[in-house]
Amino acid sequence: MARTLLVGADLWRSFQRERGVVSAVQGCSFKISAGENIAIMGPSGCGKTTLLNLIAGLDIPSSGQVEWPGLGSSDTLRPERIGVVFQSANLMPALTAVENVKLPILLGNGCEAHARALTALATFGVELLAPKLPEQLSGGQAERIAVARAIVTDPELIVADEPTGQLDQAGAAILVDRLLAWGRQTGSAIVVATHDERVAAKMNRIWRMRHGKFESMDERPACTGAG
Ligand SMILES: Nc1ncnc2c1ncn2[C@@H]1O[C@H](COP(=O)(O)OP(=O)(O)O)[C@@H](O)[C@H]1O
Ligand SMILES: [Mg+2]
Repeated sequence: MARTLLVGADLWRSFQRERGVVSAVQGCSFKISAGENIAIMGPSGCGKTTLLNLIAGLDIPSSGQVEWPGLGSSDTLRPERIGVVFQSANLMPALTAVENVKLPILLGNGCEAHARALTALATFGVELLAPKLPEQLSGGQAERIAVARAIVTDPELIVADEPTGQLDQAGAAILVDRLLAWGRQTGSAIVVATHDERVAAKMNRIWRMRHGKFESMDERPACTGAG
């Protein structure tokens, strides 16, 4: 049995808004083990980003519990154990590509940060973009750099929010194949919110959400190879 990294138990997350309360996540329960690949799918507004934020420990559930038995407890969660790719890449505009990727290492232990950042960029084929500023990058290039930034600390879990939204079909396939290859090599788990069925088809589990709930949580044999 693979090591359990994370357990979510009856998670709810509600937001108070002018017109009342919105429950973005409504009673989701799940387990994520080392080495798993999971796609979270569902229409816009169904709660994918809210759920990813709970998984990554960036937000606290209104009720229910997230525990990270394989990653340390919630109050000692170290950011380098979970790599996050935010929706729309979210690069720091004043920093070059390589500086953006270096940032998480510099915040921890800075040794060899530049070389490690270049290696992470090369993993996604964008090492030549190292000196560019975000404003000089296309949306798809920024997405590749955001994924490099998420893996640079060798996390055990990657949480990626629509990481291929600005890439074309071929570009999306290459990015996801490289991310999955990295996951196989390191044994890390990968959770990706996506609208792209072709991206989801590469994962070994697909969780479909609607109105904050899981509609289905399919499991199937992991796809192998780059196809
Ligand atoms: N910080 C927030 N404040 C108020 N409402 C929010 C907030 N974040 C998300 N929501 C609402 O929660 C629902 C789910 O949003 P979200 O998780 O972003 O969905 P998705 O990522 O699937 O598009 C939406 O109705 C959204 O408007
Ligand atoms: Mg979203």
